[in-house]
Amino acid sequence: MLHPILRSLAVASVLAGCASLPSGPPPAAAFIVLGEDGAPIARAVTTAPTCPAITIDGRTTPMAVRAPYGPIPLRGKDQSASFHADAVSRPVLSCETALPAGARQVGVAGQPLPLPPAEVKRIVVIGDTGCRLKGKEFQDCNDPQAFPFARVAASAAAWKPDLVVHVGDFHYREDPCPADRPGCAGSPYGYGWDAWNADFFAPARTLLAAAPWVIARGNHESCNRGGQGWWRFLDAHAYDPAANCDDPATDERADYTDPYAVPLGASAQLIVFDSANTNWKGFKPGDTRIAHYTAMWHKVDALARRQRYNIAVDHHPLYAFGAIQDARTGAITLFGGDAGLTQVFGALDARLLPSTIDVLLSGHVHLWEQTSFSSDHPTQFVAGFAGTAEDIVPLPQTPPAGQAPAPGAVLEAMSSWIDGFGFMTMERTGPDTWRVVVHDRDGKERNTCVVEGRHSRCAVLQV
Ligand SMILES: [Fe+2]
Repeated sequence: MLHPILRSLAVASVLAGCASLPSGPPPAAAFIVLGEDGAPIARAVTTAPTCPAITIDGRTTPMAVRAPYGPIPLRGKDQSASFHADAVSRPVLSCETALPAGARQVGVAGQPLPLPPAEVKRIVVIGDTGCRLKGKEFQDCNDPQAFPFARVAASAAAWKPDLVVHVGDFHYREDPCPADRPGCAGSPYGYGWDAWNADFFAPARTLLAAAPWVIARGNHESCNRGGQGWWRFLDAHAYDPAANCDDPATDERADYTDPYAVPLGASAQLIVFDSANTNWKGFKPGDTRIAHYTAMWHKVDALARRQRYNIAVDHHPLYAFGAIQDARTGAITLFGGDAGLTQVFGALDARLLPSTIDVLLSGHVHLWEQTSFSSDHPTQFVAGFAGTAEDIVPLPQTPPAGQAPAPGAVLEAMSSWIDGFGFMTMERTGPDTWRVVVHDRDGKERNTCVVEGRHSRCAVLQV
């Protein structure tokens, strides 16, 4: 209950908002994210203390506060993957407005925002977009050749998508740039707004303005990393100040979100699920994540029964290969899908995802990859090649006999692009067929694939 004086102040500020709408500088970011059942939500992020105005079909109102104005608080030293007491960041305000069904024209602070068409036919897929500053790996964030996300985003926007899918891992600037690395000198770091802005919102600007977004959560957005920004800016669910990753005591709630479906029209849909907190080593008995991901699988299963054609979207691949190289011997070892999810999902269904899922879009591995199976497994695309330093250990054109990325999966086709930055596009060509194109950072076509049902095949095996 509000104190009477505060209540009258609140009423006064609402009235003032009606009388003179916020004008101020344009927000740092304005975009549309699609949530449950594809419901469009307008979002704005601003360093001003008040939310900008939104105009919907000619009617202008102030946007509502999603997360109040202020700096993102530091979590404790033992509660952060990287802790820097000196990581400074400006205060930030996150605003939103749920758009009414049938809204036709939407603008925030005079900037038009793109609405989804009734039938989505052109999709851009990107992932793993931030500039890596962590541990011993430092990317030259100031060099657009070494950190090309802004270029990739502009090229993807020029393709004129109906929808953008980001498969997770937005925030990478966790540690300060070392003094002897001019390529990243001056970069903000830590989990505050300034690092989020430099890593994602500033370079993504053209693509945020081009189409509505569907956003999956990466492990970089788990509570002990960028989770606080994730909840304030990007998550498609309602914001709960009591479960926003600020207080580690609530991580057990804030590290998980419910899956949701985004209809594409013509009997197809995306199903987005949150794999941020899984563990590539698998789970020990009694780990609470087993129960979380078991419940999530059942919700995905229920959603996937609603439509005929289903494309799942998450961060961690289940049906793709990655490769690591022994620094000493040079020997290359292949690894398959995420062990934690494989363990939990595999106990529910041998093919891991429910039988109604046709395609899985993921990131996490910093390359582009396609796999297709003669067994009953979904086709997988990995699009973690949009900005973060690439994984450069080559994948084989054909994996050694008997090696599968998922238990029991029988590979029928595989294609990859190692050490190339870019984005993937999907163009719907029929009820269950898509034309996939792999573009480089300039938008030039480097590979094409055809998806038919749960199978896919690409023109070039190794780009
Ligand atoms: Fe990742």
